[in-house]
Amino acid sequence: MSGPDVRPLIAGNWKMNGLTADGVKLATDLAAWVRTDASAAPDRKDVLICPPATLLAPTARAIAGSPVLLGAQDCHGAKSGAHTGDISAEMLADQGCRYIIVGHSERRAGHGETDAIVKNKAAAVLRAGLVVIICIGETEAERQSGRTIDVVTRQFQGSLPSGASAATAVIAYEPVWAIGSGRVPTAEEVAAVHGHLRGLAVDAMGDGAGLRLLYGGSVKPSNAKELMSIPHVNGALVGGASLKLEDFSGIVRSVP
Ligand code: PGA
Repeated sequence: MSGPDVRPLIAGNWKMNGLTADGVKLATDLAAWVRTDASAAPDRKDVLICPPATLLAPTARAIAGSPVLLGAQDCHGAKSGAHTGDISAEMLADQGCRYIIVGHSERRAGHGETDAIVKNKAAAVLRAGLVVIICIGETEAERQSGRTIDVVTRQFQGSLPSGASAATAVIAYEPVWAIGSGRVPTAEEVAAVHGHLRGLAVDAMGDGAGLRLLYGGSVKPSNAKELMSIPHVNGALVGGASLKLEDFSGIVRSVP
């Protein structure tokens, strides 16, 4: 449930999927749906897609003039320089990105990204004038040993750069064990974490009551309505289901 001042965000993370033809088709079809279907309600909700870097330029062209927003999945902390294979936040802004995801668990686990690295990247996103989506979430072992709140607190405080505000940052709570697994926490479990995150946000920033807190991890049209009605859930970060228009649009539609 989003408070009156919190504008929901539904973000599609395509991960490492898509070649030009299918990416452009998906983006074109989504833009057409958002423009024409009243339940997309772009006046009230933000719809974002984060394709792989190779598809940013063609996707930007495909959604030009539509309310669909463009984002990237990662960035480097520096503006430019000798960083072979990396892409800066400024370069992503130059391609039309408005948002950048940082600290996704697949990057924390697969690329050894610590909270300090994530914070540095998040600061780079703010420096480039974009909105940062910072991902946090516990592993299954951490949940089973009762450490969920400790872990998300450490990640929230360790990954949020100074100067972040509700206008420039978004937090995505994604339990690692729920990502791509088809398993989701109970509504009570999500409510407990999001309520806690709201308190951290209010402590951390003057406008923390308006910070968007997304839930991510196996969001599908079949569970989106329940997940999106939980207090302090202000939208979704969607992986697998963002690759099919029918599924992603169903999730957008479920957000009040
Ligand atoms: P999923 O991925 O929706 O496929 O579980 C979510 C994410 O990793 O952002």
